[in-house]
Amino acid sequence: MDAIKVGLFGLGTIGTGLVKVLEQNRDVIRRRLGAEIEIKKIVDLDIISDRGIRIDKRILSTRAEDILNDPEIRIVVELIGGTDAALAIVRKAISSGKHVVTANKALLAVHGEELFALASSAGIRIGFEASVGGGIPIIRILKEGLAANRIESIYGIVNGTSNYILTRMTDAGSEFGAVLKEAMSHGYAEADPTYDIEGIDSAHKLAILATLAFGSPIPLDRVYTEGISKITPVDIEYARGFGYKIKLLGITKISGGEVEARVHPTMIPEDTLLAQVDGVLNAIYVNGDAVGPTLYYGRGAGALPTASSVAGDMIEISRDIIQGGAERVPLCAFRKEDRIQLPIRNMDDVMSRYFLRFATADQPGVLSRISGILADHGISISSVMQKGRKSDGPVTIVMMTHMAREKDVKAALSKTDVLDIVAEKTVLIRIEDGEEAAG
Ligand code: HSE
Repeated sequence: MDAIKVGLFGLGTIGTGLVKVLEQNRDVIRRRLGAEIEIKKIVDLDIISDRGIRIDKRILSTRAEDILNDPEIRIVVELIGGTDAALAIVRKAISSGKHVVTANKALLAVHGEELFALASSAGIRIGFEASVGGGIPIIRILKEGLAANRIESIYGIVNGTSNYILTRMTDAGSEFGAVLKEAMSHGYAEADPTYDIEGIDSAHKLAILATLAFGSPIPLDRVYTEGISKITPVDIEYARGFGYKIKLLGITKISGGEVEARVHPTMIPEDTLLAQVDGVLNAIYVNGDAVGPTLYYGRGAGALPTASSVAGDMIEISRDIIQGGAERVPLCAFRKEDRIQLPIRNMDDVMSRYFLRFATADQPGVLSRISGILADHGISISSVMQKGRKSDGPVTIVMMTHMAREKDVKAALSKTDVLDIVAEKTVLIRIEDGEEAAG
């Protein structure tokens, strides 16, 4: 069998990692595939800088046509990121009859439906294992390993940068801003780090996971998205006091025929496996009706882990090319004629437990006024803590609620926040600890 020829767009961190993985594991890949994978052309704006790897300079180019117009190239690997140039490249690759492998979660979360439809009608494969969870093969798990299950829920720590920040804030008591600088120096952050810290990167990934899990398009603008930039060491300390850790979770569930899709800082019991996932590591917890809870853990970013997933897709597509097979596994896990648009629950209607931190005056009747307003909105309190006042400033009262509806909690806080005894906007952090499952 001749080598399978590939064109690579983007010789950045992951592109360089991909060249390395294909080189260092050439023998084992050959034994698994029965053919070589050859990168015939690499296109990047910068073909001068030294990436610390051996590359034949003749395969480097700055012209996209050198890949897109080469009939020998069967697979286009898109590792440039962003949604403009990448979209044009993937569209052109599909219309030129080339299979696509991409790590681009933003591209798929925003344009996935269009690209999957184009690819499907052209008989083209799109591999996107690296788009969620870096080196963790979670896409294949949802498409194949758990294909016999109804997926009930997914809870994911899918952004290494924000997990690193929360971990350092938890372990060292550091402030958010200082740790963000540290995190960026590790090279995991997106080009625009607000994507990491404001939950946008997690929302891209959650939209992809939910789409695969439920066989329904999940538009990005229906994923409720809240980041970690307002989390303070004080909240982390209170969480610890109640036996919880704060993690940025992507959560998707199905109940009553409706899908929930949301990303926000979440308190989870500190003795759960997800709570132990620290630093830049990722983990995705998937509940299937037959299999029960399962957990997938590993490096969610970085050159070689991400390249591992990219190369895995290249091998899978190469196998199909060699076998001459048609689409064996549907691109979005469900056959396209069997996908349905499920209703997506409005955030207002989501049920959750809540942690509320009030800054109030220290005077008689404060607690009863606040709890009275919560009661008027049908919100039941499960615990309350007030720490003794250390200075002249406001005192802190924290409350944990039982299950409540988001819109009732927001309505109650809009009333408490304007009370003369309340000094600052109340902090709200959602809690996931199984009370819902317990009924
Ligand atoms: N910025 C992402 C993260 C990189 O921090 O996890 C991987 O998608």
